[in-house]
Amino acid sequence: MNFRAYRILEENGSSAGRFVELRLSDLDPGEVVIRSHYSSVNYKDALAAIGAGKVIRRCPCVGGVDVSGVVESSADARFKPGDEVLVTGYGMGVSHDGGFAEYVRVPADWVVPLPPGLTLFDAMALGTAGFAAALSIHRLEQNELRPENGKIIVTGATGGVASLAIQMLAQRGYHVVALTGKDSEHEYLKSLGAAEILSRHDLVMGTRPLEKAQWAGALDAVGGETLAWLTRSMQQNGVIASFGNAGGVELHTTVMPFILRGVRLIGIDSAATAMPLRREIWQRLSTDPSTGLRTGLYPRLLAQVVHGVPFEQLPEICSQMVHGKSRGRTVIQFA
Ligand SMILES: NC(=O)c1ccc[n+]([C@@H]2O[C@H](COP(=O)([O-])OP(=O)(O)OC[C@H]3O[C@@H](n4cnc5c(N)ncnc54)[C@H](OP(=O)(O)O)[C@@H]3O)[C@@H](O)[C@H]2O)c1
Repeated sequence: MNFRAYRILEENGSSAGRFVELRLSDLDPGEVVIRSHYSSVNYKDALAAIGAGKVIRRCPCVGGVDVSGVVESSADARFKPGDEVLVTGYGMGVSHDGGFAEYVRVPADWVVPLPPGLTLFDAMALGTAGFAAALSIHRLEQNELRPENGKIIVTGATGGVASLAIQMLAQRGYHVVALTGKDSEHEYLKSLGAAEILSRHDLVMGTRPLEKAQWAGALDAVGGETLAWLTRSMQQNGVIASFGNAGGVELHTTVMPFILRGVRLIGIDSAATAMPLRREIWQRLSTDPSTGLRTGLYPRLLAQVVHGVPFEQLPEICSQMVHGKSRGRTVIQFA
């Protein structure tokens, strides 16, 4: 049986994505075969698809860090045909054939049963982005961040992770400040729950080791100069979750924010999250098991930030994303 996949190939010293026909035997080994219903497009996927950023660790490799679908076959007793499941991160789409394919084969240890209260579509509307947003908030709150501590800033605000994080934070009672480069999207960001909008074009970052203390917490999608400025402008005991590099990978700052304001900089690596915490975060994204209600981190306006597209549109979506032109989340539909 042949099926369609979007594979990252290396040609003439550079890599790029292309639609190909594969057979199951072409895929990397694993105990569980999943018939894909949905995948999603993350920044990392887009970089891989255009051959930028050295994301792919082995070519050829089917792209896509996320998938949701139904178990087709399993050599592991924890899963049986017909089970609804999702997979995000680990080596998917990077060093192991990933979710941009009508069939996916992965180790059973990577597979998460679909949490109750989520559809297969919801699982990918959230995907790695929703998981990273929830994990970031979980980590910030483990570090004593609370709504009463002060304002929380979210950078790269119209992006997938940030659009979801803004909603989750607003629902939890935080005063969210959204930092965006898109002046046309201020109303959209307010509709998601941002209390204030900062335009990237008007921002004066300064150069002093400590700038005016403004933020109790920060979720940073951007890195580079933006993250450096965040370290300088946090309040006493402020906490930053650094999860992205959409604006740069370097970080130039001093130790002053850390030793004079007690600032904490927390790294977020959703792909490598161990299974017990992974399941806990997915549970927080679905429903409260005791009441069946969506009381956790599930973003109530999820439908507003997501749109579904057929598999064929994947290259176009990736191109928009690397050029900073996308908004919210894109779900890839296979059926
Ligand atoms: N660590 C993890 O576990 C994890 C998980 C998921 C994603 N990520 C990373 O998080 C970042 C965001 O991912 P995503 O999927 O949300 O991507 P995305 O949807 O493309 O969002 C990125 C946003 O960053 C802003 N941006 C883009 N280029 C920029 C630039 N040159 N300078 C400043 N801001 C820029 C844009 O927002 P505005 O126009 O509104 O400013 C853009 O929408 C990426 O770096 C991704 O690799 C990490």
